[in-house]
Amino acid sequence: MPKKTLPKAGAAMFTKQSRPPSANKSGKGILSLDPANPVAVLQADKMAQTDAMVAAMPFNANKASEYGFNSGIAPPQGAVCPASRLVGASTLSEVVTSSKVGTQATAGLNPGNVSLDAVRVDSAGQHLTTNQGVAIADNQNSLKFGVRGPALLEDFILREKITHFDHERIPERIVHARGSGAHGFFECYAPFTQHTKAAPFQEAGKITPVFVRFSTVAGERGSKDTARDVRGFAIKFYTDEGNWDLVGNNMPVFFIQDAIKFPDLIHAVKPEPHNQMPQAASAHDTFWDFASLMPESTHMLMWQMSDRAIPRSYATMQGFGVHSFKLVNAAGESVFCKFHWSPKAGTHSLVWDEAVKISGADPDFHRRDLWDRIESGVFPEWEFGVQVFTEEQAEAFSFDILDATKLIPEELVPVQILGRLVLNRNPDNFFAETEQVAFCTAHVVPGIDFSNDPLLAGRIHSYLDTQISRLGGPNFHELPINAPLAQVHNNQRDGIHRQAIPRGRVSYEPNSLGGGCPFQAGSAQGFVTVPARQKADDIQDKVRSKPEKFADHFTQATLFYNSQTPIEQAHIAAAFRFELSKVTVPAIRERTVAMLRNASVALAQTVAEGLGMPALPDAMPRALEKPETPEVTLSPALSLTFRHGDQGVRARKVALLMANGVAGASLMAVHGALAAAGAVPKLIAPRIGSVKNVEGSPLIADASLENEPGFLFDALVLPDGQEALTALAEDAHTMEFIRDQYRHCKTILVLGTAKALISQAGLPSTLPDGEADPGLIFWSDIKDKKAIKNFVQAIGRHRHFERETDPPGV
Ligand code: HEM
Repeated sequence: MPKKTLPKAGAAMFTKQSRPPSANKSGKGILSLDPANPVAVLQADKMAQTDAMVAAMPFNANKASEYGFNSGIAPPQGAVCPASRLVGASTLSEVVTSSKVGTQATAGLNPGNVSLDAVRVDSAGQHLTTNQGVAIADNQNSLKFGVRGPALLEDFILREKITHFDHERIPERIVHARGSGAHGFFECYAPFTQHTKAAPFQEAGKITPVFVRFSTVAGERGSKDTARDVRGFAIKFYTDEGNWDLVGNNMPVFFIQDAIKFPDLIHAVKPEPHNQMPQAASAHDTFWDFASLMPESTHMLMWQMSDRAIPRSYATMQGFGVHSFKLVNAAGESVFCKFHWSPKAGTHSLVWDEAVKISGADPDFHRRDLWDRIESGVFPEWEFGVQVFTEEQAEAFSFDILDATKLIPEELVPVQILGRLVLNRNPDNFFAETEQVAFCTAHVVPGIDFSNDPLLAGRIHSYLDTQISRLGGPNFHELPINAPLAQVHNNQRDGIHRQAIPRGRVSYEPNSLGGGCPFQAGSAQGFVTVPARQKADDIQDKVRSKPEKFADHFTQATLFYNSQTPIEQAHIAAAFRFELSKVTVPAIRERTVAMLRNASVALAQTVAEGLGMPALPDAMPRALEKPETPEVTLSPALSLTFRHGDQGVRARKVALLMANGVAGASLMAVHGALAAAGAVPKLIAPRIGSVKNVEGSPLIADASLENEPGFLFDALVLPDGQEALTALAEDAHTMEFIRDQYRHCKTILVLGTAKALISQAGLPSTLPDGEADPGLIFWSDIKDKKAIKNFVQAIGRHRHFERETDPPGV
């Protein structure tokens, strides 16, 4: 149905001309009426036009279409009477203009839905003012009665400043409190109109602005970035047809199957209520007590104990919508789908010892990394894909697609790539943008719809509800970061901190006094819910229960574990060992191992040994003894090693150690090669400042051994030059630097005589199996360019896990 045109402005009423004799000279702030059309005439005109308009709508023509199923799925557009601007005015005096009231509202426009330029503030060249715009003469002293006298209550400048400061904090998010965000765009590769009418997917090259926030779940707002935790991956698409929030995680499954368990899960994982410990950690009694009584969490626990829970960077994480959603095309046909984000930089993670150390040296590790990547132009980028499947396919799967503890293996339903996400602009202000952004799973646009996943159902309620208390009322959608670019016109009114000033006296629908506006969009333009899936054999009575297939708690936990490489499996076992070793009640440890036994006996055995258990406990009884045979028993796509990425060493941080007497030429040759490859080389010395090289010229240190320890870097270069090596060897930080790099399986380039530092640090010269270590590269001939090439390639491999032993030898 074509879009109806908006009512034209009534010409008769508004003129910007003649000043009546009573008006002041400037002509501002006066009622400006057409002399031929004095107020009484205007009022009569308004009344007559209003009556005619109302009379043109003798009854509610749409009423009959409110009944019956077919009307429900194809609602008509609302009735609109053409009305002049005169009848829609709140007040005849809207012709009065001033620099504050401006002019009249622009017909049909909500100026709150424009770019952030409208609210961005630049104070360059400006003097200080109060919040009322009064210039502040003295910002150093409060007002006192005499220079040594008491401060005066009269000091409105002091009181306004302190009062505002006193109220600077708002409640933090109840979960995902710690996070960082950035602006960017989504680009569509090719139209996907066969499956969805959602605006971002309608044509190749279509750009949709986005704001993305990454987060941890359990920690408070000031907690460390590198906690073992799930990462939030929330995207707000500012589409042409309204905001779409895809509020996902970096793991494709979840701990629980029904939203009614969410408060229990979060209470269990947050710091324990009696002593508020531990911060940002699941390694404590209440979490494992709960998890081991909820066997459906086993699959998610595998992900959470894997290296996925300690990403190297937000830019190296996958993202998932988790739930099954629906795509709906212009004909109203729908398919199910799962949403995927795949990082162009590949999936890379930290190792646990490194994550623990980073959390002390740089709690902002991921925040800083995201900021630095964008500032330096190495924009984080992901490909967006969907797994599309029909209801009939879903019925045949061995698992239930409404169960958020299950994924759909890519080998069963491949991921189709639809476009890319690029983050290319840091926020101007963390609070105004990243803190005030309000994501909500209920924010969908025409072309996207929900499945009946009971976890999703609870989320659709929860986010809007929580933001009312976090952001202080029902008008948080008007905060600039949350306002859509699509126009907002409705009859919602008032509430705390309302920004919009609606014109006219109509705030209900249907109406005839407002010419029917804003009118119901109808199915052609408006959001229409896809009729719910209703299997004929489903019992349709009210019930609190779950579908039978939800009771298979272990098949996909086994799939995930078996699909990991041996190193990844070892890390999962070590993570369970660490977490459970922090649990003080032995029976909780045993119950967890009994649960793990149903997923993998080998894993349970390793964990039991790691915890010093005398024997492997019996397997926990299963809720479903004979689950259906899975379609896929091995899914390589579930391993972190599956997506190596195509960005080589871009944004990788490399430490080049130096001290007075360093051989500058070879060191700077490496520096240049790294920078040329897109890496971030940093010169590190015993202290910051200038260092003299053997060539006699100074080199400026970017950081010191003390303020940027080794575990913050992806690779290490040890320099040549005897005097420098002696100085470095005398500083114990150097040895820690080298050992951490080695223990965390990173690449080390050893220039010339720096070999001595390797043996001094006690590093083995070969791998445990006697083979050469591909991550230990020695370079003595500056003319041999191959060594630098090898070094760059070796960094690109991310880690040299061949070196790893448990416990570590170094
Ligand atoms: C698949 C399961 C879930 C995923 C992927 C998920 C994801 C997220 C993400 C990414 C955020 C952070 C949003 C931001 O950056 O501002 C968040 C916040 C939140 N989530 Fe969830 N969540 C899940 C389940 C739930 C459930 C079941 C509930 C409640 C029933 C819930 C309630 C909340 C609340 C209240 C917030 C704080 C929102 C705010 O203050 O802005 N989540 N969630």
